[in-house]
Amino acid sequence: MRRKLIAGNWKMNELKTEGLELAQAVFDKCAGQKLPFDVLICPPMSLLGMVADLPHEVVGVGSQDVACTTKSAGAFTGDVSATMVKDLGATHTLVGHSERRTMHHETDEVVCQKALNAMNAGLTAVVCIGETEIERENGEALTVVARQIKGSVPKTATADNCVIAYEPVWAIGTGKTPTTEDVAEVHTAIRQELTSLLGEKIASQMRILYGGSVKPSNAKELLSVENVDGALIGGASLKIEDFWGIAATQL
Ligand code: 13P
Repeated sequence: MRRKLIAGNWKMNELKTEGLELAQAVFDKCAGQKLPFDVLICPPMSLLGMVADLPHEVVGVGSQDVACTTKSAGAFTGDVSATMVKDLGATHTLVGHSERRTMHHETDEVVCQKALNAMNAGLTAVVCIGETEIERENGEALTVVARQIKGSVPKTATADNCVIAYEPVWAIGTGKTPTTEDVAEVHTAIRQELTSLLGEKIASQMRILYGGSVKPSNAKELLSVENVDGALIGGASLKIEDFWGIAATQL
């Protein structure tokens, strides 16, 4: 059985006071609970260490990116290595978010290296993939995600050190979501692609999250789709009522 993962990507949001309050609110919701799902929050790098240092149980804390170099330290101005992220107390990192693929021109090769660095440092890599609006309109969604899986998921990935997040680019921050049929189609195709890449056993255990305009009102439906093993939440993860409203649909 794959446990669902409810993950928040705060992106470049929250200053210290509000960010620590938000993290504390998530930790409070989870404290002492035997939740039937896992919870992860990914604050900006500026708050990662402080958030990870707050006493908390069970909840994962992740960065939104790690450096691409295979070195864990050195002359790489502005970069933060996976080893450093782990050292701050993080458990996970996102890699290959579409905002990084687009704004920082990250290729599948770069994303794969970052995922590998994360795994080697003892982090779970959340590998993000997803087609653009034009690619979907051209009927290329399945080809694009298959190519991204092949190119961005390291061959050594397991269900413990890797999670996939399918985030159609056109659904991110737009309020638009694919139909449940479309989500089912892509998630099934992702599972098939993982099977050819990693074998049946690992592929059947690996979690595939859906991301893109998830909110309390659509979470139950999206999370009930076959092969959807959780959600990666952007905007709605910045308000505890919304983030927990989404999580609570799984209680
Ligand atoms: P929204 O939930 O704001 O659409 O963002 C999704 C996302 O990009 C999470 O990584």
